[in-house]
Amino acid sequence: MDGVDLADLGLDEGGHLLVARALSGLRPGQRLAVAGTHPALRLHLAAWCRERGHRVADDDATAGLATTVIVIRGSAGDRRWQGAERAGAAAGPPAARASQAWGLAARGALVEAGGPPLGARWSERDHVWADIAPQLYAAAAASQWDPATAVDWTATGDQVPAEVERAVVQLMTYLVENEQAALIIPARLLSQLHPHYREVMQLLASQSADEARHVEVFTRRALLSGGELGTSSAGGRASLQTLLDEPDFTTASFLLSVLGEGTFLDLLRFIADHAPDEVTADVTRLAARDEARHVAFGVAHTAHLAGADRHYLGTLRQAVERRHAALRDTAGLNAEVFDALVLLAAGSWSPAAIRRGWQAVRDLQDRMDEGRRRRLAAIGFPDDEAAELSALHTRNFM
Ligand SMILES: [Fe+2]
Ligand SMILES: [Fe+2]
Repeated sequence: MDGVDLADLGLDEGGHLLVARALSGLRPGQRLAVAGTHPALRLHLAAWCRERGHRVADDDATAGLATTVIVIRGSAGDRRWQGAERAGAAAGPPAARASQAWGLAARGALVEAGGPPLGARWSERDHVWADIAPQLYAAAAASQWDPATAVDWTATGDQVPAEVERAVVQLMTYLVENEQAALIIPARLLSQLHPHYREVMQLLASQSADEARHVEVFTRRALLSGGELGTSSAGGRASLQTLLDEPDFTTASFLLSVLGEGTFLDLLRFIADHAPDEVTADVTRLAARDEARHVAFGVAHTAHLAGADRHYLGTLRQAVERRHAALRDTAGLNAEVFDALVLLAAGSWSPAAIRRGWQAVRDLQDRMDEGRRRRLAAIGFPDDEAAELSALHTRNFM
């Protein structure tokens, strides 16, 4: 018979771990001799065994202070794990479909049956995944920056002309509004994603954190000169609302990250290039660095799904057309934002400068269009369709 000696260790101070360990090597019905000098050994052991479906035999032996109690292994412990399944494999790619029954269990964990089902909305790999997600998350974790130290907040332009400063404040006001939409959307997708696809979950969490920083630095830049904020147009907000209302994971990711944030990459670089002060240049450059990752995931994920389901390009096309139709009667971009971009690039109100600024903004719009067409082609759209869809993109840029 197998045995375990607890010496004077009580079951109420960890002794049960030694008993359970010894029992785990036995088959149901086999006996284990548990020896010890703790005065309540038999009493505690009987209670513990009852809870776990083991039995205590009647024939204890006592020698001096030591008692030996015989425990007969039960089978209840095994029954608990009947019907248990692994939540996919710990290594290698995640499962094609994640079971709601896995709930919050770690990928690869042995999941006891009977827990509450998760109710995650997105639980199919192709509808959320991109092979580049783990690398993008690693890059995101390595590139977090601190707004307090990454920007020299004292490097403002006291030298910035008042009207150019107002243009900067208007642009920052507009950026904050867009960043808030860009924060809410990944946070919403994240809340309905099956955590089995943990790299995507982590990436969306870091994307939300990036947007929180962008909201902060653009707000801070807007307030730097101590004046009022700029304007928020109904058309701009209507455009963003269509993004918030998009229920599908991939379509939301496509409209926000591929088309919207893709377009914003050019916008942020434009503001950085024409910034009248270091702070404006720094905050837009730092944000653009983060946005490049958001765009990369949007493109890779959309291409992944389009590769798995050729009909999906049609769904995306319809989404762009639907959004265009919904926004047809709105102004799109806030006119004050457009004017602010011209003045920023012009730097002054002289006619020659305004002509230069105007042309720079036209060139910016061409670059935005080229970028969208390139990304649409990367997803799988033929060039002519990519050009058509790019032209239907919201005038609000995001
Ligand atoms: Fe952002
Ligand atoms: Fe973003």
